[in-house]
Amino acid sequence: MSRHRIAIIVGSLRAGSLNRKVAQSICAFASDTLDCGIVEIADLPLYNQDSDSAPPPEYVRFRERIAAVDGILFCTPEYNRGVPGVLKNAIDIGSRPYGQSVWDKKPAAIVSVSPGAIGGFGANHQLRQACVFLNMPVMQQPEAYLGNVTDASFGDDNCLKDGPLKDLVTNLAHAFADWVDVIVRSRRLLAEDLAHRS
Ligand code: FNR
Repeated sequence: MSRHRIAIIVGSLRAGSLNRKVAQSICAFASDTLDCGIVEIADLPLYNQDSDSAPPPEYVRFRERIAAVDGILFCTPEYNRGVPGVLKNAIDIGSRPYGQSVWDKKPAAIVSVSPGAIGGFGANHQLRQACVFLNMPVMQQPEAYLGNVTDASFGDDNCLKDGPLKDLVTNLAHAFADWVDVIVRSRRLLAEDLAHRS
């Protein structure tokens, strides 16, 4: 299986973000099958449709980075039962100008992380809804609503300590590698088939 390039987008700007630590854990635990890198969203100006014709350099850089990868993995907190504004802003920026969305057809997975018991379920599914609209094949299983996560869940290297949470995240990363592989390869076969017929 090829080692696919994955952009991880973290929906929190907080320095000590639990979501960022989970993202770093996924980068470390799945390095055999996934080439992961966090794409930062903190510097993105608020999306303004007026700038579709003359986008700020931050939009251009972000869109190029997303266009260059094989898949997207979101790690997000839940803010007031929904997706944090900073993440929604990044999604909107990637989706425009109309007809040029960089999200289109990119396989995705969603991890939500919270110190609360229900693990950001609301944000996870709100984000899933946007991904469906954006024509992103979102991995359905395993689901990842990571609840009761605290600083104590991580070791000195900022990665998840050994235990059920680490096992769950590692399984998810490997399932996502398979998911991306199936989609990338079937798309390639389809393109070859179409080229053959024409
Ligand atoms: C929260 N938090 C929160 N948690 C949750 O499980 N459901 C929620 O709806 C909310 N709402 C919410 C709103 C706002 C504005 C803040 C700042 C926080 C708590 C949140 O899960 C917690 O702060 C996490 O630690 C945030 O994720 P990071 O920054 O650690 O990745």
